[in-house]
Amino acid sequence: MNNNSTFIDKEYENILQNEIKENKKEIFSSRYKEKKVWVKKARATLSLKSHRIYYKIFSIEILLEVENKNARQTILYETNKLNKFRTLGINSPKIIGRNEDFFVLEDCGKNINSYIRKRDITKNKMYYFINKLISHLANIHNCDQFHGGAQARNFTYNDGVIFSIDLEESFNENIDLKILQFRDFVLFLLSLTKTRASFELDFQYIIYTYINLSNNHDFINRLQLMSKKMSFLTSLSEVGFINKFLGRDVKIFFKLFKILKDLK
Ligand SMILES: Nc1ncnc2c1ncn2[C@@H]1O[C@H](COP(=O)(O)OP(=O)(O)OP(=O)(O)O)[C@@H](O)[C@H]1O
Ligand SMILES: [Mg+2]
Repeated sequence: MNNNSTFIDKEYENILQNEIKENKKEIFSSRYKEKKVWVKKARATLSLKSHRIYYKIFSIEILLEVENKNARQTILYETNKLNKFRTLGINSPKIIGRNEDFFVLEDCGKNINSYIRKRDITKNKMYYFINKLISHLANIHNCDQFHGGAQARNFTYNDGVIFSIDLEESFNENIDLKILQFRDFVLFLLSLTKTRASFELDFQYIIYTYINLSNNHDFINRLQLMSKKMSFLTSLSEVGFINKFLGRDVKIFFKLFKILKDLK
């Protein structure tokens, strides 16, 4: 039988043990005791080589190298962090059980993107979600934590409450917490550039609301510094040859950079 299992219901664990062999998806919803749950399979966390190279050249926090972990280390890291978040009062799913091959989470509602990426979303609704997201992220940072994958898709919404999910990314322990929090904030802003709403988002409002709640006032300077580095990159990216060389994930920075340039 499986080692290091925390499942109380062994029968359910056995059923899932077979199901994960048949289900090709890495994460899928299922049911347990009449309730919806999420099953996440073990998989390794690997740093992208391209990110490592770009980070060495440009030192842009968002390209910070993630810590390589094997599948079992990743499960331990993510489930421990979910538990830690909950003890600190940061909303995140309860763990129904974990072993070395998979873990099961209670359902925490729908992914926030399914609300904010709607074309016909009203301004009122958009800022309802954005304000909640900002306070959730600021709460994580005020508890001296970081999310690690703070894109909108890694938060869910249920009954007026935002939850953090997908906490698998870790970083070298020597990296300053403020850098990881800044990275969170940039990932969060970047993910908001992808809305399909009929109106422009007020990034100045979003940035200052977060800063007032988190007291991370120096993030304005960091954002401006990042935008300076980006301006160098933008000119590089306009050179056809280099444009081909830059990955898609790097190109998307330019969109946010244009917004940051206009920050007052
Ligand atoms: N506890 C949960 N409650 C509700 N939805 C969840 C839960 N866990 C996962 N999901 C859904 O499954 C999706 C994928 O989960 P998760 O982000 O943990 O996996 P991932 O494979 O690491 O994703 P990514 O594509 O961000 O790397 C989420 O975006 C969300 O829609
Ligand atoms: Mg995710």
